[in-house]
Amino acid sequence: MLTHLDPSAKLRRSLSLPGHNLRTFGASELTKVLGEALLIPGVPERVPAPDRPLFEASLGPHLFHSYAGRTHPLLVRHLCRDLTAGQTLMDPFVGSGTVLVEGARLGLQTIGCDVSPLSLRLSRLKATPLPPSMQQTLLERAKSVSEASLERVKKRLSPPRNYDDPRFYPPHVYLELCGLRTEIARVCQQDAPLGEVLLLLFSALVVKASNQRSESSTASVERHIGKGMVSRWLLNKAEELVRLERAFWPADCKPLPPTLILGDARTVLQPSAGCKLALRSVDRVITSPPYLGTYDYLNHHLRRYAWLGIDPSPIERDEMAARRHRLPLGKRRQLHEADTWNWLSAMERLLKVGGQCVILVGDSVVDETLLDGAEPIERAAESTKLEVVAGASVERPHVVRTVEPLPPRREHLLCLIRRE
Ligand SMILES: C[S@@+](CC[C@H](N)C(=O)[O-])C[C@H]1O[C@@H](n2cnc3c(N)ncnc32)[C@H](O)[C@@H]1O
Repeated sequence: MLTHLDPSAKLRRSLSLPGHNLRTFGASELTKVLGEALLIPGVPERVPAPDRPLFEASLGPHLFHSYAGRTHPLLVRHLCRDLTAGQTLMDPFVGSGTVLVEGARLGLQTIGCDVSPLSLRLSRLKATPLPPSMQQTLLERAKSVSEASLERVKKRLSPPRNYDDPRFYPPHVYLELCGLRTEIARVCQQDAPLGEVLLLLFSALVVKASNQRSESSTASVERHIGKGMVSRWLLNKAEELVRLERAFWPADCKPLPPTLILGDARTVLQPSAGCKLALRSVDRVITSPPYLGTYDYLNHHLRRYAWLGIDPSPIERDEMAARRHRLPLGKRRQLHEADTWNWLSAMERLLKVGGQCVILVGDSVVDETLLDGAEPIERAAESTKLEVVAGASVERPHVVRTVEPLPPRREHLLCLIRRE
């Protein structure tokens, strides 16, 4: 914590660890925590069957629904470990809700903001345990929806409407998805909260059912998906979600419902935009803003937006730092620094004095130039009451592979403290 400020704060040290090359600077206690968080091994893609129950109990809803660029849940857990029930934790770029799930588990009041309605819907689902009665109903309704969809496949019923552009799917899969989605729409009319869970289960499987290689790659792949398979996937997903929830949330756990704010974190969190969050009400911010020019969150989720009826235009307009923004490098950097200042100044207003703002950010490669992800934050913070007191970074070459002569790309964790 801050009380242990190291006199050598800001002096950058390099601590070489094989394969990571951890570098730290700043207050010793904090740098230790940041360094430990960055060195937590990644979530494995495959887990041997005997280890699966322990794995699922540890990560629970984090394992439901992919979301490119999400933060490692155990990294967030490490950064939250000194927080206590009732305190307030905020993530202005909440994405798939990793920070909120961890906060909810600790009994914290959580606040998330994102420009994408999908992100908020997913965060709400993941950070709010389903009551046991609803888990049971979900399993029953997922089964009946899946069966009704299989009946449609058998009878070759044509869908009552189009949801997405059929070119993105094998023809029979598209028809089946439309039928499945139609059956879910019926549930939404009868029981909106349950319908919402089914829609998010659908969202979790739709990219895998399309010709798109993955959410972060629009390259086309040929998939071999048998008739009836996507209907069965929906039921499997429901069973998986219930299993993960039961394993993760303690039986008597009643987390506080998250506060979710839709919009552009550069503006929507300011009182001038009608933000109702109280001045100096947040104990900690943990966030991972978009890395400059690295991802296109809009494009990642276009298939999902189509099926969920989400209008992508506000996201197209307001997404920050996206790869698709074609601007000269200098202009891009300038804009990014202004963007960074805008959302950071909102955090300055909301954080309690002494509160921490912990930011995970990566270097990026734009126009063959390696850009340090930490620099814009450090510069923007200079004209706020947020002081950069500690930082750590490691090499993460796998996200954006750089080629000689560029050095390996790094990921940084910075801790800023709200000063008086
Ligand atoms: C790196 S991701 C966050 C991932 C998150 N930590 C998680 O674990 O899922 C960045 C998020 O910022 C959101 N975003 C981009 N521009 C935004 C803006 N101007 N205001 C609010 N959110 C924005 C994207 O939609 C995306 O969900």
